[in-house]
Amino acid sequence: MSEYIFETYTEEETRRLANKLALLIRPGDVITLEGDLGAGKTTFTKGLGAGLGVRRTINSPTFTIVKEYIGEIPLYHMDVYRLENSEEDIGFEEYFNGDGITVIEWATFIEDYLPEERLTIQIKRLDEHKRAIIFKPIGSYFEEICKELY
Ligand SMILES: Nc1ncnc2c1ncn2[C@@H]1O[C@H](COP(=O)(O)OP(=O)(O)OP(=O)(O)O)[C@@H](O)[C@H]1O
Ligand SMILES: [Mg+2]
Repeated sequence: MSEYIFETYTEEETRRLANKLALLIRPGDVITLEGDLGAGKTTFTKGLGAGLGVRRTINSPTFTIVKEYIGEIPLYHMDVYRLENSEEDIGFEEYFNGDGITVIEWATFIEDYLPEERLTIQIKRLDEHKRAIIFKPIGSYFEEICKELY
């Protein structure tokens, strides 16, 4: 599996990277975000939302699992942290097959429900402001997107 590694030094740079990605993806795409608490998963999602034309403020959905935002393309923002070990299926398929882009924080907790083709993004906190953002596309469609972004 190929990896595309980006480095950012500010929150703004992370948002910009996500913003660029937003211009390359299509309804029905699923993006998973992995990384420790405070790595920058929600920050990345904010940039992605801006790129999709979402005007409302995107914040962490920790207490709701899924938040839907209207944009030129809808954004389904999930934070499945609370579903660790729960086996709960909140109707993921409908989001994945819907007309929006799904972004999932802590996606490893719902590994079994994820579609085969997806874009996995791992964010590593290297120091207070420096992040390694590692794109791991699964499937040729996402591979092409990563090549274009890189
Ligand atoms: N290069 C950077 N990229 C992204 N965020 C950064 C960067 N440098 C500093 N930060 C800060 O790191 C924090 C990232 O918080 P964020 O809520 O995005 O993390 P998270 O991965 O969603 O955490 P959680 O697991 O709690 O949901 C913010 O306070 C942001 O300002
Ligand atoms: Mg978050």
